[in-house]
Amino acid sequence: MTLTFQKTIQNPAAVYVLCTEEGKLDKKLISEWTGISADIPFEGKTKESLRIIHPVEKREVVLIGLGNNPGANLWRDIRSVFYKNKASWKGDVILFGDHLNENLVFQITLGLSLAFKNTTSFKVDKTQNGNGHVDAHFIFQTNSDLCIQSGEKAKKLFQVQEKIMTWIDTPSNIKTPAFICQEAEKSALEAGYSIKILNKEELKKQGLYALLAVGQGSINDPAFLILEYKPSVTPSKKIGLIGKGVTFDTGGLSIKPSANMGYMKSDMSGAAAMIGAIELAAKNKLPLEIVALIPLAENSVDAHSTRPGDVISSYSGKSIEVIDTDAEGRLILADALSYMVKNYHPDIMIDMATLTGNIVQSLGYFAAGLFTHNDELANQLIQSGEQTDEKLWRMPLWDDYKTDMLSDVADIKNLSSKPVAGSITAAKFLEYFTEGHTQWAHIDIAGMAFVDSEFTKMRMASAYGVHLIYRFLENLSSK
Ligand code: BES
Ligand code: ZN
Ligand code: ZN
Repeated sequence: MTLTFQKTIQNPAAVYVLCTEEGKLDKKLISEWTGISADIPFEGKTKESLRIIHPVEKREVVLIGLGNNPGANLWRDIRSVFYKNKASWKGDVILFGDHLNENLVFQITLGLSLAFKNTTSFKVDKTQNGNGHVDAHFIFQTNSDLCIQSGEKAKKLFQVQEKIMTWIDTPSNIKTPAFICQEAEKSALEAGYSIKILNKEELKKQGLYALLAVGQGSINDPAFLILEYKPSVTPSKKIGLIGKGVTFDTGGLSIKPSANMGYMKSDMSGAAAMIGAIELAAKNKLPLEIVALIPLAENSVDAHSTRPGDVISSYSGKSIEVIDTDAEGRLILADALSYMVKNYHPDIMIDMATLTGNIVQSLGYFAAGLFTHNDELANQLIQSGEQTDEKLWRMPLWDDYKTDMLSDVADIKNLSSKPVAGSITAAKFLEYFTEGHTQWAHIDIAGMAFVDSEFTKMRMASAYGVHLIYRFLENLSSK
């Protein structure tokens, strides 16, 4: 879709008036656009809407209520309302009421863009994919310049969200580690950050043995991305981001049941979110140094696959007993975490991963699990999630859970001896490779990345995490 922001418009086909404050509607504005001066039965409550035909100009006017003080989830409501009206959309104008501010403009722009988002489609018959072109223009009555900036910022975010949703929704016969490398190269070029790709030979040379062990059963070789953004000013902090990039997770020899295995094309959602976050940081020129490390592999079944019971080495030099080849995410993250600590010494280090089914058992589809020893970091991340409506719930990391990960034959094993607290024991495994980093956080997004939705028949990517991490970086920048 094209979305432009203007202060005036001639002869619109239809007008959408978004009324922000219940009971305090701008009567003059409404009568001007609707052509009706009498009181109309509309209060501006959340999700309230009213369609009027202008008596003289015959133009369609739709009033949409946003209620009092809409919260951080406004973009979701806007997305839903406009998605439902998508088929009958003939207007090219969105007109705000009198009470708009930058936050509202941001959220409305984001929601509207998401409503008209193209679906990821490999249909040969293009008329069937519903991806028609839509024009929308915003007209502002007040605060124009600041609001326009805010709208432009939301558009930038949306473009990155749409792109990473496409990656996540793309099937794994197309989306190989090499595919993600190519996409990251395009992103780096477009946003102006640097990229280095370690291929299989380089992984062997540098000793990323845990990543190699996960990828060795696939025809599509593993790879490791090193993305670096350096601002033109002296950075206030160095931030390390890590994202799980399993392009398909069969479970390996500990193979998953076939029902819904196809959903495992989304097992690179952590990687997608972190690539998106560094792209946005670079595009918006945040005054932070950012390193994103993305381990990429396909966890597949083959004569070369790692077996349950195998003992493998890792970048840290520590040995790992692979009890279950389906607990592969923590293996590739282990190498990325030690690589980050050893070579980059970041002030703050955050990893994001579709790591465990157990976090879905714990939190369902409403929040991601947050694991960190650092209270300040926890609060900053939770607060950023509150601002973007991407909920985080803090989980414990007590050492009581550690003993379950001890192995008889190796330094650590990749699966707990007990079938309980799976997301916590996974986090304890990761902690082992952070070398005691005091500002490390792990975010388990298994329930949030690929979700049932009103917009698709099957599950689709949500882009969870990219806005959250970007907002966290932006908040750090303004400190
Ligand atoms: N990719 C999965 C986790 C997952 C589950 C993501 C559901 C999205 C939705 C991960 O690699 C995995 O297979 N985890 C296992 C761990 C187990 C073997 C300890 C799980 O959660 O069952
Ligand atoms: Zn797995
Ligand atoms: Zn996985």
